[in-house]
Amino acid sequence: MDAVVHPEDLDVESSLRPRTLREFVGQPRVREQLELVLEGARRRGDPPDHILLSGPPGLGKTSLAMIIAAELGASIRLTSGPALERAGDLAAMLSNLVPGDVLFIDEIHRMARPAEEMLYLAMEDFRVDVVVGKGPGATSIPLDVAPFTLVGATTRAGSLTGPLRDRFGFTGQMEFYDPGELEQVLHRAAGILGIELHDDGATEIAGRCRGTPRVANRLLRRVRDFAEVRADGVIRRDVARDALAVYDVDELGLDRLDRAVLSALVRSFRGGPVGVSTLAVAVGEEPGTVEEVCEPYLVRAGMLARTPRGRVATPQAWTHLGLTPPDDGSAAAPVEPLF
Ligand SMILES: Nc1ncnc2c1ncn2[C@@H]1O[C@H](COP(=O)(O)OP(=O)(O)O)[C@@H](O)[C@H]1O
Ligand SMILES: [Mg+2]
Repeated sequence: MDAVVHPEDLDVESSLRPRTLREFVGQPRVREQLELVLEGARRRGDPPDHILLSGPPGLGKTSLAMIIAAELGASIRLTSGPALERAGDLAAMLSNLVPGDVLFIDEIHRMARPAEEMLYLAMEDFRVDVVVGKGPGATSIPLDVAPFTLVGATTRAGSLTGPLRDRFGFTGQMEFYDPGELEQVLHRAAGILGIELHDDGATEIAGRCRGTPRVANRLLRRVRDFAEVRADGVIRRDVARDALAVYDVDELGLDRLDRAVLSALVRSFRGGPVGVSTLAVAVGEEPGTVEEVCEPYLVRAGMLARTPRGRVATPQAWTHLGLTPPDDGSAAAPVEPLF
């Protein structure tokens, strides 16, 4: 699925990752808030509060976590919720921290319960209780943890438990990027990868990458292939447009899953309302993927509305699929697209 990480992305991503807050394009609100959090902590000489970064995939959460560590001059330890299956896995990570370290837990909403409970104590008191043995003979040994800053990333802030959410001192809500910001992302990546990208070519790609830097960088590489094989290697508007047509990227940049969801909603459920699980079954995906990866962008693009009774296609969705919206008022009210 296109909004998710492809193996190929991982190789180039590390070379394209912004390294400092200044290099990090867009997200002005999160950036300003983070600058204050980091500078305040720096002046007091303490590690900053724990930080949660929330938002759809590919918007820069992992990059920002690394930048936070770099700005603090701290080292970063990386792990993820699914990797912390047992409390012992987390205890091992925590006991290896040195003062001031940043511990990054990706997909923190997918952490197992026992590990999560251990994390509460570590976040609050810099202490863990390690249980040794089983049954009535089990004892719990308290261990000190070096003062650290937890940076958690999630595509699903809503499914974090209350106690975990409450222990973060700051939540940065990542937003989709606007086309101007995506042009900057593209020019930056083109510079690093040695691609000749003209402004009109960048504009063409920026409008079609789902508001997502990861997708922007991927489309840039696909358009480069096309430009090198079928043209003179330079990316101008016409080359970008022809290339994106070959790769089946529509003018809104919707990917296969986005289109499948819209098409099921409109064709199989007459525009809704329909529950997200039913919709997910119809497209053969996990409800979580539809909800976290696909819907945020469709909502942002003004194609889909989430209502208490279920998901509803907007008139724009019908039109986008080349269909006429029903005129009995059953489609959701028109939505002003944000871009
Ligand atoms: N603000 C940004 N400026 C420039 N490039 C970015 C930015 N955010 C993300 N990227 C690019 O997108 C890729 C994916 O970002 P990443 O931090 O892995 O997203 P997430 O962790 O939210 O899925 C990065 O490797 C980087 O190339
Ligand atoms: Mg990530």
